[in-house]
Amino acid sequence: MSAPKSRPIRLRRAVLADLPELLALERRAFTTDHLSPRQYRHHVTSPSASVLAAVDAGGLLGKAVVFFRKGSDSARLYSIAVDDAARGRGIAKGLLRAVERGARKRGCKRLRLEVRQDNPGAIRLYEKLGYRRFGAIAGFYEDGADAWRYEKPLRKPGVTNRAPSISPPSPRRPGAQRGRRAG
Ligand SMILES: CC(C)(COP(=O)(O)OP(=O)(O)OC[C@H]1O[C@@H](n2cnc3c(N)ncnc32)[C@H](O)[C@@H]1OP(=O)(O)O)[C@@H](O)C(=O)NCCC(=O)NCCS
Repeated sequence: MSAPKSRPIRLRRAVLADLPELLALERRAFTTDHLSPRQYRHHVTSPSASVLAAVDAGGLLGKAVVFFRKGSDSARLYSIAVDDAARGRGIAKGLLRAVERGARKRGCKRLRLEVRQDNPGAIRLYEKLGYRRFGAIAGFYEDGADAWRYEKPLRKPGVTNRAPSISPPSPRRPGAQRGRRAG
């Protein structure tokens, strides 16, 4: 059943009570690389992560998970998903813009993410919102799929965007967090 389109949609920080719905959306939206209940519990309460929820009166419609690292001026979009029945209504766009505002407020100068090379819908979303491809990571995902790396400079409102800096593709570090769709 699709979500009624007339209900107002609100974006807010996720709380522990959202965990069951966050996990259910995670399972529905992704076939691999699922965030575990433990990881969600940690990210919802951690100062170095932010989990945003898009909700209406019927419950959770979408979510975005972003990470911040101490001493780094890059934020990393780790995961974004919108429930099947609510897609095509600008919810991911709204979540991503909220993630960008939050990262900017924390002093981040850019937002980075990885996306499966076989996910044209998500690639279109990021490119439409001004993200530029700057690298690739072979075999990044649990099922062996390759990732593109994207980034967007986060400028203060009113400052014109210039082309992002180009960095070489980075090989996967041993022990680096694997298989994340980021986007
Ligand atoms: C990708 C995803 C998050 C998009 O969510 P959404 O709420 O439907 O996206 P929006 O409505 O905000 O779309 C914004 C723009 O992104 C692009 N876009 C989004 N989904 C698209 C699709 N399936 N095909 C082509 N373009 C798409 C469009 O340009 C769209 O703008 P438009 O409608 O004005 O053309 C959603 O399809 C999803 O959850 N997919 C499964 C999980 C996933 O792949 N997450 C991303 C991992 S990197």
